[in-house]
Amino acid sequence: MEFKGKNIISIRDLSKEDILYILDKAKEMDEKEHPSLLKGKILATLFFEPSTRTRLSFESAMHRLGGDVIGFADAKISSVSKGESLWDSVKVIGRYSDVIVIRHPMDGAARLASEATGVPVINGGDGANQHPTQTLLDLYTIKKNFGNLENLKFGFVGDLKYGRTVHSLAHALKHFNATMYFISPKSLCMPEEHLKELEKEGVEFYETENLNETIKNLDILYNTRIQKERFPNPENYNKVKGVYKLKKSMLKNVKKKFRILHPLPRVDELNRDIDNTKYGIYFQQAANGIPVRQALLCLMTKGKAKDKGNVKLSNAIKGIKCPNEKCITNHENVETLFYPEKDYPKKARCHYCERCIEID
Ligand code: CP
Repeated sequence: MEFKGKNIISIRDLSKEDILYILDKAKEMDEKEHPSLLKGKILATLFFEPSTRTRLSFESAMHRLGGDVIGFADAKISSVSKGESLWDSVKVIGRYSDVIVIRHPMDGAARLASEATGVPVINGGDGANQHPTQTLLDLYTIKKNFGNLENLKFGFVGDLKYGRTVHSLAHALKHFNATMYFISPKSLCMPEEHLKELEKEGVEFYETENLNETIKNLDILYNTRIQKERFPNPENYNKVKGVYKLKKSMLKNVKKKFRILHPLPRVDELNRDIDNTKYGIYFQQAANGIPVRQALLCLMTKGKAKDKGNVKLSNAIKGIKCPNEKCITNHENVETLFYPEKDYPKKARCHYCERCIEID
């Protein structure tokens, strides 16, 4: 498997074999220290949105491998605040570093960044679209606790509409014969296009608003925060704020092997009385960010460079405006590209924000 020089932008770009290979590498990182493996390499961390775990675990991973880190954690102190485009910023930063991790509020920003530079780019979260390294550490945590990833029953609860961690993980789990329960208020349900994609792949899934009823069926509950910052209208946030508050007393009828994951940060959806039970493994999950991100940094920067590879331009359709207001193509001067879906000419997918659209 060859990752050198490639990007990690979307979980859709990774096959089952790729995922398992990365998890095996992460296990190697977990089992042994490698204090000088990336000596002389530089990671650039470009965080245009707040982060604790993703940024600091990437930085820690690089330091633990003997590499160096440059970057910023606040877009206000970068030249983007003077009007510089993302494209120009990344083009320049690629000349100062060997690998870049970027978090950005716009869907598709990481894909665009990967096309601006010759160095590999890792998506640390782009808007409501994808968070592939979170998914890899989620899977690593599940594998560590359950022994394998196959045939598990997953509940996803909370903000399924804007939750990039949910979108990425649900798409990864289609490789592992998972059954999925999507638990949310109607206004935050899993977007239709994700459900259609899962349906096409033959995934068994259910939608419900009832967490109490569903929890007893589950092996894993993936709890998520309702993300105030993603709501265009604060009134809509107030309507769903605090709708699910998981606490220890709700775990009486769960399976013995039941476990709770949460990408964190949490607000009020996960009570601290669960922290010290065997069910809550979310702090272990956050810690697993280190070996997983160490594995990615090694795979992407060591060895002989190859073509970046996962930019697929040969059959692109040009000239369609992306209807997703949050797509980076509506905020940067970039030509839009869409890829034909199976039911083309009716449907096509935006190369950047990955939104599937109906063509008139
Ligand atoms: N899980 C996660 O992405 O956390 P941060 O926002 O703190 O990086």
